[in-house]
Amino acid sequence: MNNDILKTLYSQQQIQKRCQQLGHTLDKVYRGKRPLVIGVLKGAVIFMTDIIRNMDTYMQMDFIDVSSYNGGTKSSGHVKLQKDIDTSVKGRNVLFIEDIIDTGRTLDFLQKLLRGRGAKSIRICTLFDKPAGRLVDVKPNWVGFKVPNEFVVGYGMDYEGYYRNLPYVGILKPKIYENK
Ligand code: PRP
Ligand code: MN
Ligand code: MG
Repeated sequence: MNNDILKTLYSQQQIQKRCQQLGHTLDKVYRGKRPLVIGVLKGAVIFMTDIIRNMDTYMQMDFIDVSSYNGGTKSSGHVKLQKDIDTSVKGRNVLFIEDIIDTGRTLDFLQKLLRGRGAKSIRICTLFDKPAGRLVDVKPNWVGFKVPNEFVVGYGMDYEGYYRNLPYVGILKPKIYENK
């Protein structure tokens, strides 16, 4: 796997340090609010487990699965709900955990969905943000790192389902997806 990476953008150490900082920030915001923390499958799973262990806050967890990339490098433009949460969000303080925001379509879709169900507050924490990719207006409340307009993998982010378990984030060598 390491061999397929052109360049490391953020090391395991840098990511862990940022998770601690973000966790402490979120801890202050959410203490006493009993948030429902929702991880967006599958990419957010790794970040979710790291961030919540830096929060000494009563919280509940749930997961929602939407997909628009179908494993590839380009957004299909169509967000599809694959698996819903099991919890009611009515009157709840919802915190979305994402690995990356690119076009913004995924979180635009999710925010609208939960607003319609009567969530009290909806906020977004994403580890990575790719502002140059934005096609719809979504503004995360907390961002770990910005990334350039390149296809990045690792720490939850995939190409065709692979590379999610890389403990760091890097740019994939173009030859890996070029001849597809
Ligand atoms: C990726 C990523 C975000 C979303 C961001 O998920 O994990 O959820 O795309 O892109 P957007 O801002 O352009 O919507 P993907 O749909 O590939 O599913 P996955 O998490 O299962 O890989
Ligand atoms: Mn995702
Ligand atoms: Mg994906």
